Amino acid sequence: MWLTFLLLLTTINYAFAETNVTITEDIQNGLDNSTFPTIREDTLTLLLMGDTQFHFPCEEDNVQCKLVSKRPRSRFFLNSRLEFIDGVEVNETLRQGRDSCTKIESRFANRVQRQALDALISSMDYKPAALVINGDLTDFGHLHQLHEFRQVWYNNFPIPFILGLGNHDYQNNINDCALNFCAHTMLSWYTDYVKNMSLVADIQRKTVKFDVEFTGSLAYTETVCSSSSNFLLYFYSSTLQMCIPGKLCAFVIQLNNAIDYNVEFSSLFVKWNISSPMKYLHNELNLLGSTSLPILLNMHQCESMHIHKIKMMLRRWMLTVKKSFESNHRVPRIGAFYAHMHQRHEVTLECIEGYKVPFVYIGSVPNNRFTKFDMTASTATITGYKARDSLMYNGEILEQLETVDLWGPCVRTEHFRFEDHVTRKRRDFIRRNRNQADFSSDASALFF
Ligand SMILES: *[C@@H]1O[C@H](CO)[C@@H](O)[C@H](O)[C@H]1NC(C)=O
Ligand SMILES: *[C@@H]1O[C@H](CO)[C@@H](O)[C@H](O)[C@H]1NC(C)=O
Ligand SMILES: *[C@@H]1O[C@H](CO)[C@@H](O)[C@H](O)[C@H]1NC(C)=O
Ligand SMILES: *[C@@H]1O[C@H](CO)[C@@H](O)[C@H](O)[C@H]1NC(C)=O
Ligand SMILES: *[C@@H]1O[C@H](CO)[C@@H](O)[C@H](O)[C@H]1NC(C)=O
Repeated sequence: MWLTFLLLLTTINYAFAETNVTITEDIQNGLDNSTFPTIREDTLTLLLMGDTQFHFPCEEDNVQCKLVSKRPRSRFFLNSRLEFIDGVEVNETLRQGRDSCTKIESRFANRVQRQALDALISSMDYKPAALVINGDLTDFGHLHQLHEFRQVWYNNFPIPFILGLGNHDYQNNINDCALNFCAHTMLSWYTDYVKNMSLVADIQRKTVKFDVEFTGSLAYTETVCSSSSNFLLYFYSSTLQMCIPGKLCAFVIQLNNAIDYNVEFSSLFVKWNISSPMKYLHNELNLLGSTSLPILLNMHQCESMHIHKIKMMLRRWMLTVKKSFESNHRVPRIGAFYAHMHQRHEVTLECIEGYKVPFVYIGSVPNNRFTKFDMTASTATITGYKARDSLMYNGEILEQLETVDLWGPCVRTEHFRFEDHVTRKRRDFIRRNRNQADFSSDASALFF
């Protein structure tokens, strides 16, 4: 306590030494923006999304995307789900037409998403620490798909990436692609990526006779921090509250496809023995203990059995660290972030041992949704976004959706769904119709 106070005073003196103003004067007058313009509460920001998935059709709710594919779809007898209309005799021309419509939609959605993220990032004085892409970078792991992912995203982006792989990158194409080259392409590119980023990933390379063997879960842990590094202060109603020297950080754990996914396969002279990241996560959580930093678990998919296994693991962890958190007057901060179900963009705040644990569908490119995570010394929120085409929406490239507080004590599980103006309108429409139906059935009950 006294140490903090002392630090506070030295920092203040340091900060105001050049401006030649006394501290008391300045607190009384409020903060003068012109003499000290950089004051702002330190914030760690991350952007999250999934499923760039070159090339996959857009979600039906992505109206702007379906508008763009409307003409070519009608030429090849395709409905809005890119299925052939009943009664059409499908031939090679039409099949190729469907492929080209899929590419039109996928390229449109990726371009719109990229432009919206570029706009958001350039509007921010303090850049986000990273863009998290939780899997399905490609639709099938073909070389040309990876090439397009690299061109549109990987090769030139203003902030660092935290990437994971999804079922479409390897699980789906194993034994369904010549020589298993698709899964091999993605896994070897990914091991190259973690190596280039100097990430310590759970993967070992071994040479057995003339063959190469990779063993491990591919999972990794990375500490991400806010970009501002100068002395930061913040004021509350012109009264000095506190001072944070240094940065705000979080542990990001990337688990790739799913908590319990494992596979073994060969591609020519390379053997891949990919184990489930369950053990890795278990060890990491034990090592982190009752850490003061939040833990963000990233993976591609987290439905049914997967979510059940993660919840069980987190409940056990919570039971072992709860006392220690409470005696330090801290709240456990952990959450799971994933994609996979393209149309879903929502948060469930599970109540685990009396504390909120967010399980978040972070949004997908085919739905042109993404999520912004913001953490300060005292708060943590996520905010949903819809990315829009600037031509169709008069330059209004971003629709900001709801903001949800993430951590703290709880009594029951809560659920939030991010809604844009299109999905909100549709929900209201359905609700109105249902009410009318209820009314007419009531009326008929009255008459008969
Ligand atoms: C700055 O402080 C010095 C010493 O207290 C004083 O002599 C000088 O007048 C001050 N300058 C301004 C611009 O207030
Ligand atoms: C500082 O600037 C911000 C934004 O420009 C403004 O909202 C705030 O009122 C200013 N504070 C003072 C003390 O002038
Ligand atoms: C395929 O079917 C479409 C629509 O029936 C037709 O216009 C086209 O000529 C056909 N192409 C071939 C190669 O038969
Ligand atoms: C890793 O670095 C090498 C050498 O700079 C480069 O050729 C390769 O494309 C990089 N791969 C990835 C995935 O970043
Ligand atoms: C794959 O790795 C696991 C340990 O992660 C090991 O137990 C298993 O024997 C390996 N399988 C093969 C075929 O080497």
